[in-house]
Amino acid sequence: QRESMPDLQAGSASDTRFAEGETEQTLTNRQGHPVTDNQNVRTLGSRGPTAIENYDFLEKISHFDRERIPERVVHARGAGAHGYFEAYGKAGDEPVSKYTRAKLFQQAGKRTPVFVRFSSVIHGGHSPETLRDPRGFAVKFYTEDGNWDLVGNNLKIFFIRDPIKFPDMVHAFKPDPVTNIQSNERFFDFVSNSPEATHMVTFLFSPWGIPANYRQMQGSGVNTYKWVNEQGEAVLVKYHWEPLQGIRNFTAAEAEQVQAKNFNHATQDLYEAIERGEHPAWELCVQIMSDDEHQELDYDPLDPTKLWDPEQFPFLPVGKMVLDRNPANYFAEVEQAAFGTGVLVDGLDFSDDKLLQGRTFSYSDTQRHRVGTNYLQLPINAPKKHVATNQRDGQMVYQVDIAPGQNPHINYEPSSLGGLQEAQQRGKEHEPAYNAKLVRQRIERTNDFAQAGATYRSLDEVERSDLVANLGAALSECRDVIRNRMVDHFTQADPEYGAAVAQAIEQSLKRGGSDSHVGTEAANDGMEIASELGH
Ligand code: HEM
Repeated sequence: QRESMPDLQAGSASDTRFAEGETEQTLTNRQGHPVTDNQNVRTLGSRGPTAIENYDFLEKISHFDRERIPERVVHARGAGAHGYFEAYGKAGDEPVSKYTRAKLFQQAGKRTPVFVRFSSVIHGGHSPETLRDPRGFAVKFYTEDGNWDLVGNNLKIFFIRDPIKFPDMVHAFKPDPVTNIQSNERFFDFVSNSPEATHMVTFLFSPWGIPANYRQMQGSGVNTYKWVNEQGEAVLVKYHWEPLQGIRNFTAAEAEQVQAKNFNHATQDLYEAIERGEHPAWELCVQIMSDDEHQELDYDPLDPTKLWDPEQFPFLPVGKMVLDRNPANYFAEVEQAAFGTGVLVDGLDFSDDKLLQGRTFSYSDTQRHRVGTNYLQLPINAPKKHVATNQRDGQMVYQVDIAPGQNPHINYEPSSLGGLQEAQQRGKEHEPAYNAKLVRQRIERTNDFAQAGATYRSLDEVERSDLVANLGAALSECRDVIRNRMVDHFTQADPEYGAAVAQAIEQSLKRGGSDSHVGTEAANDGMEIASELGH
């Protein structure tokens, strides 16, 4: 197996783990030097000045100076837990092998260890967990074939369908670059110019936009993936997590009450439940479609702003996940965890969903920057199976990927001198064929409003009135051009929806708008400043 660097260097020295008088509890620095005084820096006389050769102090303070790594650019606030996934061996009533050869799903009762990270999206690492925001639901499966990451959200759809829009979207949702204040006007400015977001906004401004905690929320892979069977045949698949604890969301008023008292409530709820032995569990369901364009549908199956009608494409249970262990250290496990949509195992594949393909570049790219080149060597990210690569060096190498019997001089392939060899191909490769021009084009069936209307009508009375009130308050902070465009989009979704939001805006304006005008005023100031500067 892999060898760690200290072992490589140990040579034949006798056991030197403890110096005379030391126990396992003796404080040392990172060089192993016993620290005899952790209260006083070395100074010339008791009143100073300090001496710069004071290695213990310099090491301690300079490590402290580097305690932070960059936050995730999105999903910075999170909570994690360990557990396992248990397969049913079936997809609904059919053997799962009909659709996928992925080993983790095949046998009923087979358990695969998992690590899950839940998160909110827009604000920083210590922001309140009551904010209106999608919630991240990222699962790392440590399978016998290597890791599989299912990086999802609580909501089943997304704001946009083209990855080139993602950085602009996140900029609009994050605080103003001048004032550092988040504003509804920035948010709706972008959204009103992106009609495909109407459906997501309908969920987000209802109580579904504030899950009560992490244990009682759903999860979804959102994007369309593929499953591939032994014959290399593929189907389109969407993944959904259903909480066995039930679902609970907050209205705006409920969220405000919790936020006034506790801005860590979701992390605390998850941690304390697991400590109490109440282990949250979710059932994993899939929706399956044949792998083609489905021209009979009024939407494109590769469009992540759309739901697949569960009547037509039923939820098929394939297994269950239980979270039963808290991380031993938040930073080492939760903060350094790195999930990515490219991390698939044999039997699972990408679809042509453009958003998914854009994401797949983004995750490992940011992680090389955020955590470091060798982020996959960290225990939380490393597979729990045999790894043998010819990757070497880079910042923070912790171990060298040398297999038993491998010639350590040979860090390349092919070789006749005892290096690593390629693995056997498993089942038949799935080989989709293409005959198309390289273009910049939207998909044909955008149909941006119909499902937003259906979702509006599917909400219950409390959810719908919360949605309308929340939209009314938020849009009353926006300029007419934005407000009117949003009302037009809601009207196209459902005339009653548009009329209700228009009325809620009027009411909110009569009351003097919602209590936070700061964003709008600041943005106005910004425009004045920009025009003074001649922009
Ligand atoms: C985190 C990019 C869409 C779910 C992230 C991160 C980036 C990113 C750069 C930070 C990762 C890290 O620092 O480790 C993108 C891009 C998208 C996109 C470019 C669209 C083009 C989505 C969608 C979902 C999603 C549609 C939901 C299905 C998540 C989750 C995390 C995350 C759950 C946090 C993972 C964790 O807990 O570490 N995303 N994202 N993202 N994204 Fe996305």
